[in-house]
Amino acid sequence: MSTEVAVGSQAVERALPAAAGAAERLRFFLQWAVLAPSRHNTQPWIFEIAGDEVRVYADTSRTLPVADPDGRQLLMSCGAVLVNLRLAAAHFGHATSLELVPGHRRDGLLARVRLEERSPSTPEVEELFRAIPRRRTNRLPLDGREPPEGLVTTLLREARREGVTLRPVESHQRRVVADLIAEGDDVAWSSSRFRAELAGWSRTNRSPRRDGLPGYALGMGDVAALVHPLAVRLQNPARAEAERDRRRALGTRALLVLSTPRDGKAEWIQAGEALQRILLRATAAGLFASYFAQPVETPALRRRLADAVGDPGAPQVMFRLGYGLEPRSTPRRPIPDLLRRMEQAPPRPAALAVRPAAEPTWTATPSEPIVLPAARGAEPPRAEAQA
Ligand SMILES: Cc1cc2nc3c(=O)[nH]c(=O)nc-3n(C[C@H](O)[C@H](O)[C@H](O)COP(=O)(O)O)c2cc1C
Repeated sequence: MSTEVAVGSQAVERALPAAAGAAERLRFFLQWAVLAPSRHNTQPWIFEIAGDEVRVYADTSRTLPVADPDGRQLLMSCGAVLVNLRLAAAHFGHATSLELVPGHRRDGLLARVRLEERSPSTPEVEELFRAIPRRRTNRLPLDGREPPEGLVTTLLREARREGVTLRPVESHQRRVVADLIAEGDDVAWSSSRFRAELAGWSRTNRSPRRDGLPGYALGMGDVAALVHPLAVRLQNPARAEAERDRRRALGTRALLVLSTPRDGKAEWIQAGEALQRILLRATAAGLFASYFAQPVETPALRRRLADAVGDPGAPQVMFRLGYGLEPRSTPRRPIPDLLRRMEQAPPRPAALAVRPAAEPTWTATPSEPIVLPAARGAEPPRAEAQA
C-alpha cells in the first residue's frame, strides 16, 4: 500500500511495506498526525508505540506559560493530532478505538489509540484524509468571496456531531466582537512577556529548526523574518495588530466561534478534535482558516465574547474562513524526535473510556482543568499574561 500525497512540508512520498506490523503501521500514520495545528507551532506532543497501540502524551516542555497558561490550547492541538492519526489509519484500512485518559497525570499521558480490525475506507474519510497535508493557517489577506452555499451549515452540523457548538458571528454582533478582538490584541501585544514568548518561537525563513513560526508564515520576506524576533521583543505593535485584526474581523465572510458546554481537560481535547474536523472539511472545500486567539486567551474578554455571541458555554477558539493564495506550509519535527519508544507487542491495560471508530459521541470523562507541570506556578499577572 502506498500514498502519493506529499506530507506537508516534509514533502515525502513514502510507501507502507505490505508486511509492516502494527507498530510500523502506527509509526507510518504519525506522519499525518503531526500535521495538526498548534499555537505558535509548538507541536506539543510525544508518542509511544507498543504493538497495536500508540500513546499520545502532552509534551510539557513545549507549553506557552504566557499565551496558554492552563495548557488549554496545548490539549486542543493534541485533540487535532488524534483526528489526523485516526484518519490516516482509516485511510490505510484500519478501524481504531480511542481511549482518553481522565484527570491529570504527571507523565502527560492523554490518550491511547488502538488499531482494531481491518475495514475499508469511506468517501468521507478520503475527503478529510486528503485535506490533512493541504490544511494550513493562512494569515495573508483572504478575498471577499462567500464560502460555498451550505458549507457553514455542514460545519455547524459537524461541530454538533462532535459535541461542541460552532456559532457564526452574525452581522449585528460583528462590531462588538471586532472590538473584543482589538482589545485582546491590545492586552496581548502590550505584554512584554507575551512578546518575548512569541519571539522565542519565531524563526527565520531559512531556519533549520522544525518548529515555531517562520517569518514567511506571517507574510515576511527573508530580511523582515531575520529581524522579527528582536523587533517583537523591543517594539509594541499593539495598535497596528489591533487595527488590522479589527478590519479583518469586520471584512471576513465567515467568522466563527467554537465553544464547549463545560471547560475542562476533556472538553479541550474534544474542542481540538472538532476544530480539526471542521478545518479539514473547510480545506476540502478550498478554504483557509486563520485565528483570533487573543479574546479567548484573556479571561475577562472570553466571558464577554461568549455574551456577545449568545453562548452559554466556554469559547475555545475563534477563526475566520476564506479564500486566498496558498501559503507555504510550516515545518514539523521529524518523527524520531517525537517517538519516545517503540515496542512490537504491549501489555494491554484495562480501558478507562473507549470510543470506537464509528461512534462520534464523546465518552464522558471527568472534566476538571489540568495544570501542566511546566505551567504550574507560572500563573502570570492578569494584564501582562493572558494574551
Ligand atoms: C488552538 C489554536 C489557536 C491558534 N491561534 C492562533 C492565533 O491566534 N494566531 C495565529 O496566527 N495562529 C494561531 N494558530 C495557528 C498556529 O500558529 C498554526 O497552527 C501553526 O503555526 C502551524 O501552522 P499550520 O496551521 O499552517 O500547520 C492557532 C492554532 C491553534 C491549534
